[in-house]
Amino acid sequence: MMKIKVPFFDLTAQFKSIEAEIKSALDEVFKTQQFILGPPIQALEEKIAQYCRTQYAMGVSSGSDALVLSLMALGIGAGDEVLLPPFTFFATAGSVSRLGAIPVFVDIDPETFNIDPSKIEEKITSKTKAILPVHLFGQCTDMDPLLQIAKTKKLFIIEDAAQALGAEYKPKSGSEGRRAGQIGNLGCFSFYPTKNLGAFGDAGMVVTDQPDFSEKVRLLRVHGSQPKYFHKSIGINSRLDTMQAAILLVKFKYLEKWTLERQKKAERYQLLFQDALSSVNGLRLPTIQYQNRHIFHQYVIRAPERDRLKKYLAEEGIGTDIYYPLPLHLQECFSFLKYKRGDFPTSERAAEEVLALPIYPELPEDHQTLVVDRIKAFYKKNES
Ligand SMILES: Cc1ncc(COP(=O)(O)O)c(C=O)c1O
Repeated sequence: MMKIKVPFFDLTAQFKSIEAEIKSALDEVFKTQQFILGPPIQALEEKIAQYCRTQYAMGVSSGSDALVLSLMALGIGAGDEVLLPPFTFFATAGSVSRLGAIPVFVDIDPETFNIDPSKIEEKITSKTKAILPVHLFGQCTDMDPLLQIAKTKKLFIIEDAAQALGAEYKPKSGSEGRRAGQIGNLGCFSFYPTKNLGAFGDAGMVVTDQPDFSEKVRLLRVHGSQPKYFHKSIGINSRLDTMQAAILLVKFKYLEKWTLERQKKAERYQLLFQDALSSVNGLRLPTIQYQNRHIFHQYVIRAPERDRLKKYLAEEGIGTDIYYPLPLHLQECFSFLKYKRGDFPTSERAAEEVLALPIYPELPEDHQTLVVDRIKAFYKKNES
């Protein structure tokens, strides 16, 4: 019998379902020949602002630039300190460092993998300017304590919501919770192709409720130029591409449906794994805090003997991934910050234990069943 191959991620089925619409949206752009800041940009900005329940949204060229531009809009630069978790994608800290500011790491909560609010205050100095929480894997950071700290210590909050478009914090029964990106001063999103709303290349967005920050990001994304060729400040070239915006507008129509599908797959994993949870010591599934709206950008388990399990699954034709194998405080490029192993034990442990399983809206049921069956088989084999 032929073995089923289970890719970690597959966009082809999704593309097939919207191919005609995408091609026709691109045709429109070709007809107008307005490639820079064309009409789809504003249309997408309106949709995303509405979706995130913010006043403003500004399209930029990537999630990484969304972070850089947000920091720039707040005037963060040389010598300023920004508090952030070390267990995240590189761009969170890279953006801070690129501006000459200093990433100051704060360990994570072992349940959610997000920054641990109880460890923030001890890291605040006279140079601290902002907190940069990351809503990792699609679940919001516990933001209320951060808002409180930011208020008393007069700090800004930039949300790295690259993985969390549509995630909601503390939804209360009957009323809606706060959306990722709307909670801090500025929120940053990525439309990298594998994100829940993915472009056909790089793209990103900044959202905010504050008109001055919106103006600044708009200005900074076009070299600080206003009017053209007159420069108020030194910005960068970081506009959202019109073709990407046209594609994202088509895909946006399906985002809610796709999110529901992801949530269903997450629930199904929960069911399928149930019996293994008591028998496999150390196996842990994602937890949802405060009944948050988790959008399951990734489905990340903690797995004993993670590296051996990953290898075994690969041999069985099952794709998995590790987000992230080395916390940022231990990255070579940040050695000048003088952190060492042991500084952030929860992040270091997570890096050794996490394993991301296939999750995307079109993930076939038999693939999902196979993933869980093979994981159980691995631990059974280990027992004997
Ligand atoms: C947490 C986080 N921050 C920032 C980024 C950067 O986004 P981009 O790849 O669009 O530059 C990403 C995505 O790759 C991310 O996952």
